[in-house]
Amino acid sequence: MKTVLVTGSSGLIGSGVTEYFHARNWKIHGVDNNMRADFFGPEGDTRWNLGRLSRELKNFSHHEMDIRNREGVLGLVKELNPDAIVHCAAQPSHDLAAKRPFDDFDVNAGGTLNLLEASRRVSNQIVFVHLSTNKVYGDAPNRIALKELPTRWDYEDPAYANGIPESMTIDQSKHSLFGASKAAGDIFVQEYGRYFEMPTCCLRCGCLTGPQHSGVELHGFLSYLVKCNLEQRTYNIFGYKGKQVRDNIHALDVARFIAAFAAVPRQGEVYNRGGGKQNSCSILEAFALTEAMTGQAQVFNSVDQNRAGDHICYYSDLRKMRSHYPGWDITKSLTQTLREIVDAWQMTRAHG
Ligand SMILES: NC(=O)c1ccc[n+]([C@@H]2O[C@H](COP(=O)([O-])OP(=O)(O)OC[C@H]3O[C@@H](n4cnc5c(N)ncnc54)[C@H](O)[C@@H]3O)[C@@H](O)[C@H]2O)c1
Repeated sequence: MKTVLVTGSSGLIGSGVTEYFHARNWKIHGVDNNMRADFFGPEGDTRWNLGRLSRELKNFSHHEMDIRNREGVLGLVKELNPDAIVHCAAQPSHDLAAKRPFDDFDVNAGGTLNLLEASRRVSNQIVFVHLSTNKVYGDAPNRIALKELPTRWDYEDPAYANGIPESMTIDQSKHSLFGASKAAGDIFVQEYGRYFEMPTCCLRCGCLTGPQHSGVELHGFLSYLVKCNLEQRTYNIFGYKGKQVRDNIHALDVARFIAAFAAVPRQGEVYNRGGGKQNSCSILEAFALTEAMTGQAQVFNSVDQNRAGDHICYYSDLRKMRSHYPGWDITKSLTQTLREIVDAWQMTRAHG
């Protein structure tokens, strides 16, 4: 039986990866210290998800550990000697990073280095998949010529008709402190691939989503939007007329890609990892889709000021990923994903 160490295993992607690999007969070691509750308060608490995994998965072991604990991480990786590490633990919000810059950097950059070095000291054959972010590009994508459509922004420049490729610069733009700390982690992951010839890759993610997200205003676009709709809470739109575009990908499709990479790994790779144009929507379009499913109008408030460094239009060019892994593609459409999120929140509300 192969072994995978999953950090952030109680979160959206960590739990999705845990379930996916478990179903394929891997032994899972999860590392999570519920820091999401510390970052976002009780609504960010992921213990419910840990409880679910512990109850349902017999080959899952939880390790209550902080990835900033260097000695702890070195010891755990040495003890487990896993076949793969999937690194999903993070401070994930660009707005929160400005309030807690040291915690943001220590988790996103320091924690990533702890895991990479722990891995290298045990074996340079351990597959290492890092969940990075499209914020490593900073606001450089905002320099692309855009056109304003009735409900969304889109690229005017035909060079970006398929979305943002991995060749987009990560330099000389505004990232948010979160984007900067994630860029540091991203570069380290690439460097361990190239310098030490380790099988590593960075997934530069758009909006990752699914029914297991503990969505809050500062993180978890569709999950939080649906929650606001169902609870008739006011959803704040920050700038860009609500036409800002995000590409959304279901956690299952992320896990499927990670498994494909773990089976045939490459060194120091980078992939843009969102739902692509087919799964993209603006905030206004997400309101309309959600309203059609719940029958309730979205209550919202428009704030003139956009979030610092926020993308106006972003969807991933998935062609590199598809060419390296032709067996992989998106399987969950945007409407299917949204349906699952609506159902999950309705279930939570029904059961208190
Ligand atoms: N969700 C998105 O839309 C999105 C977009 C781009 C990138 N990403 C990246 O994908 C990864 C996973 O995101 P997610 O949405 O599953 O996040 P999440 O917040 O749902 O899960 C992260 C988990 O990591 C844990 N954690 C945080 N700090 C920790 C620490 N110091 N030690 C141990 N555990 C810790 C949290 O408690 C949480 O359970 C992150 O690296 C994030 O930056 C996510």
